[in-house]
Amino acid sequence: MSQITHEPPDRQLLTLEVNGEAHEVLVESRRTLVDVLRHDLGLTGTHVGCEHGICGACTVLIDGAPARACLTFAAQAEGSAVETVESLDGGGGGSAPGRRLSDLQQAFTEHHALQCGFCTPGFLMLAEGHLAEQPAPSREEIREVVAANLCRCTGYQTIVDAIEDCAARRRAATSEEGPCN
Ligand code: FES
Ligand code: FES
Repeated sequence: MSQITHEPPDRQLLTLEVNGEAHEVLVESRRTLVDVLRHDLGLTGTHVGCEHGICGACTVLIDGAPARACLTFAAQAEGSAVETVESLDGGGGGSAPGRRLSDLQQAFTEHHALQCGFCTPGFLMLAEGHLAEQPAPSREEIREVVAANLCRCTGYQTIVDAIEDCAARRRAATSEEGPCN
């Protein structure tokens, strides 16, 4: 007679730095970063679409580089700085009522770069990661970057417009040494 035994789940205590704050979470080794962000830390701005690395809705920054949080084990992010869409802040502080949109979020609004908005957090973080590396991207470069993520609503033109406009405003603000927002 065969006997089936169930091993207790393999859990580990992780310290994750998310949006500048350190969090301790006890998770199974196989738990993905997006599940930890959404379910353990309550940061539901990062969306889950395909869970297969295709759509990019789950895009966050890990040490400044865009990454698919659905394909990243939480344990892989230990020791790195994770940034989610909640880190974007145009002033006003945290989730306070007076909080303003960031300059990139404002550009998305002005250019109607979202409709249902499901994909938007992923596009914002994808763009932030790219603009940090390339503050003066050509329109063609922006088109190539946003091709990494899926949007079923906008047709992409307005997303490209928004990123291009935000990049130009940031460059103008830097040359004037004034605020971007
Ligand atoms: S949910 Fe991660 S790529 Fe689609
Ligand atoms: S705005 Fe609806 S999927 Fe992009």
